[in-house]
Amino acid sequence: MKKTASPLSSRLGGKSCTTIRYGRQLLFLFAAATTLFSQQTSGTPQTTSGAPPPAPHLRTPTQRQLDWHRMEYYAFVHFGPNTFTNEEWGKSQSLPDVFSPTNLDTDQWAKTFADAGMAGMILTAKHHDGMALWNTTTTIYKIGSGTWAQKRALQGLDTDVVRLAAQSARKYGIKFGVYLSPWDMHRDPAVPKPGLRGTVYDEAQIFGDSSSGGDYNDLYTRQLTELVTMNLSPNGTGFEEKVDLFEIWLDGASGSDTVQTFDWARFRDIIRANQPGAVMWGHQGVDARWVGNEDGVTTATNWHTINRTQDQAHYGGEQLQTGMRDGLYWAPAEADARMRSGWFYHANERSKTGDALMSMYLQSVGRSVNLLLDVPPDTTGRIVQTDVDALMRFKELRDAFLRRNVLKSDMKVAASSVRGGDDTLYGPANALDGRADTYWAMNDGETKGSVEIDLGGVFAVDAVIVQEHIALGQRIGGYAFDVMAANSTSYKPAVTGTSLGYKRIDRLAAAIQATRIRVRVTQANAPPLIQSIQVLGSRVG
Ligand SMILES: *[C@@H]1O[C@H](CO)[C@@H](O)[C@H](O)[C@H]1NC(C)=O
Ligand SMILES: *[C@@H]1O[C@H](CO)[C@@H](O)[C@H](O)[C@H]1NC(C)=O
Ligand SMILES: *[C@@H]1O[C@H](CO)[C@@H](O)[C@H](O)[C@H]1NC(C)=O
Repeated sequence: MKKTASPLSSRLGGKSCTTIRYGRQLLFLFAAATTLFSQQTSGTPQTTSGAPPPAPHLRTPTQRQLDWHRMEYYAFVHFGPNTFTNEEWGKSQSLPDVFSPTNLDTDQWAKTFADAGMAGMILTAKHHDGMALWNTTTTIYKIGSGTWAQKRALQGLDTDVVRLAAQSARKYGIKFGVYLSPWDMHRDPAVPKPGLRGTVYDEAQIFGDSSSGGDYNDLYTRQLTELVTMNLSPNGTGFEEKVDLFEIWLDGASGSDTVQTFDWARFRDIIRANQPGAVMWGHQGVDARWVGNEDGVTTATNWHTINRTQDQAHYGGEQLQTGMRDGLYWAPAEADARMRSGWFYHANERSKTGDALMSMYLQSVGRSVNLLLDVPPDTTGRIVQTDVDALMRFKELRDAFLRRNVLKSDMKVAASSVRGGDDTLYGPANALDGRADTYWAMNDGETKGSVEIDLGGVFAVDAVIVQEHIALGQRIGGYAFDVMAANSTSYKPAVTGTSLGYKRIDRLAAAIQATRIRVRVTQANAPPLIQSIQVLGSRVG
């Protein structure tokens, strides 16, 4: 369970037309009913030596961040002692015996997520209560010390739940990540632990800058190192390929007054050295930031950059949602949200419906923010059927919505201007080719312009999806989507927006019968680069 649950201060917290392309090869003449489809130029495909590429605009994402943006939607798995004590924030009072799933099935988790179209899963390797789900050497306060693990070991079964989940993720073709809570109640002297007193689990209270008997940052570093160097199979069993992590979640939540200064730079270096592809998630990065709420939604304006690091004062929720335009750090937002009311499984809670999840998706992924949806296993160690059903219903709704792109790569497309007149490299047809490495670009110094597409028939249009080529930075601060109705010769705006970014999905207030559409950039801080345009609807004439 994350951030907002704790009130504590430690949390805080879119001219005239000059070129036209027909498909990817031909220029064409089109006697347009409107002024814009005019014409110029030569007949043969242009060579690619022409216009120089646009310069990057301020901060740009790393490859790991680009790969991460493209994941869009993946699962959070809260599982551990709290599952069995029906708590959200257990206070490290339970002995390891408490962890007792009757039918643990990490394959069922991974298959569910893969079937649901989720790109990966992130598992709570250690939540705030401090009990480790993997076979750590840093503490005996781990599930491996309990009777569930001992019985499994006697059967020759692996008892490391983090590794089991990683293997299942691999088996079903989804990515894997871990959550390792920085705040650790098990080590925090401000959290009384009568339940552990007099047992071997009553370990040194080293959490906090003024604690004695050890350095918590050292302990955390060792735990992190174990996780980022974990093998897919137990040591000595032959197949010792390293678990590949896509994200490491360093929760900013704390429920105690104990002041602990975390060594974020050291944590980052260990992650970089061992898992160069892994995004480090924190309240303010370093690679991805919290979206400022736990509802799976963000505001209409959302920038991928911010101005602060993990070491600086925490932004409030509103600033985290919007981000900072042209900020100092590429730290895009991820929206963490729940399938049910809590993060851990509670029998009395209901699953969100497919419709509710679709709405959440449009307000997160539809606003350039990744959606991390928590789906907690129950006390059997499986995901309950109502959650599975809701995830599948959401997938049906999403697929049915998204697969209606009416734009085809051979449609007549025209742009207000094309960079260096080089249609092959920078023409508007690049926005229809489904590729992430091509885009429509205009000339340096131009920050407003438009692309028009002749649909070649009448389509009932109800949504538009536009992507900036963020590999070269986020540029656009104003855009519009215009529609020419079937019986009209002029455009009417159907959508206006502010920031664009990785991907925007805008639904129209009502479906419009259209023969042409236009995407306009009305404001940008550098020449806009449009990587993709999709228009959703269906043919009616
Ligand atoms: C856990 O780790 C210890 C120490 O590295 C090792 O001796 C033991 O075999 C491991 N247990 C399991 C179940 O992998
Ligand atoms: C972020 O930092 C940049 C560079 O220092 C600065 O120009 C901008 O005003 C800052 N933005 C905010 C919202 O503080
Ligand atoms: C345009 O066509 C729509 C149906 O597609 C109709 O509802 C509307 O009245 C028509 N408008 C005009 C000005 O003819």
